Amino acid sequence: MSLQAPALKNDRFLRALRRQPVDATPVWIMRQAGRYLPEYRATRQRAGSFMALCQTPELACEVTLQPLARFDLDASILFSDILTIPDAMGLGLDFVEGEGPQFARPIRDPADLKRLKRPDPEVELRYVMDAVRLIRRELGGRVPLIGFAGAPWTLYCYMVEGGGSPHLKLAKQFAWDQPAAAQQLLGMLAELVADYLIAQAHAGAQTLMVFDSHAGALSPLAFGELAQKHLKTVLDRLKADPVAAQLPHIVFARGANHDFGALADLGADALGIDWGVRLSAVRALTGGRVALQGNLDPESLYTRPEVLRGMVMEVLEDYGPGPGHIFNLGHGIRPDVNPEQLNVLIDTVHRHSAAINARPTLA
Ligand code: CP3
Repeated sequence: MSLQAPALKNDRFLRALRRQPVDATPVWIMRQAGRYLPEYRATRQRAGSFMALCQTPELACEVTLQPLARFDLDASILFSDILTIPDAMGLGLDFVEGEGPQFARPIRDPADLKRLKRPDPEVELRYVMDAVRLIRRELGGRVPLIGFAGAPWTLYCYMVEGGGSPHLKLAKQFAWDQPAAAQQLLGMLAELVADYLIAQAHAGAQTLMVFDSHAGALSPLAFGELAQKHLKTVLDRLKADPVAAQLPHIVFARGANHDFGALADLGADALGIDWGVRLSAVRALTGGRVALQGNLDPESLYTRPEVLRGMVMEVLEDYGPGPGHIFNLGHGIRPDVNPEQLNVLIDTVHRHSAAINARPTLA
């Protein structure tokens, strides 16, 4: 399937990623299919568990489309999780209610690397590719579909810690005490992440996004060796594949706000930006080389609608006129947000950005 499939009815998102002019700023929301929607909770209940939901293409497709039925969103995102790769490598993933993800067999010792499997995305992760194919068909070109994966560093953290962790003590200890084994694991993950994203591109994903959610836990000194180097491997592999190379690529290195020049040098089309930095500052630092996606504080969704409107307008004004902005939150939407707030957000993004773009530009 090609990027410019003639049936695509709303291409604002793809245009903004390429820094081309748009009639209004496109918007989508990280975790837009999730627990804040009662229809998601109902489907998850029917599936029995979160992993069963991910592994049943019909149900994954159903929840992917749920937010589009309610909201005027400009993109859809595959319903899945970044931890599908470590699961397929043999770590045994379980989502414990209220406790988040847990691996039965984490990596704690260099010898543990020997038992890791190298999954083929069209075999062990075929359920993901089948979901991509089905979603593309069911979308009927309404909006583009984003495929995604976790970045090597973030996946490594979950694999060593065995789940979520506030300080990443074990992940960092392993990286510093066993540098050869850590680099071997990160290198292996970079190849598997690239294979997985390339397979999603071949299955019909129209944009590829890499989530490095734990990037901000690293000092700027450690970031290069542990995160950046392996992100670069992933991006280089995507660019070497004839299908994946045609798609826009987004890197979200959450919290890594110390060197936007280096992030822009990775060669992605866009950077995801959290709310710890001004979009205008990042725009100046990256000199228009990349589009920017973000960066409203997710907690803004708890305010009164008129306050929320003002905060959305502030983000749009901060980016300013000109192409290359995709509106999003600085991180995923929380499970207890009132869904009606998203209508306020999306309506404000579309209306106010159209007004900004209609302003006469100062020569
Ligand atoms: O954005 C979307 O709508 C697409 C689906 C998506 C999910 N997870 C669904 C999900 C995406 C893109 C992810 C990415 C993901 N998963 C990340 C990177 C982004 C980030 O949040 O930093 C990470 C770190 C994970 C790992 C993960 N998955 C955690 C830590 C948790 C538990 C956290 C929580 O909120 O309970 C998950 C579970 C998960 N992934 C849920 C959803 C909708 C909630 C599961 C449920 O229904 O109980």
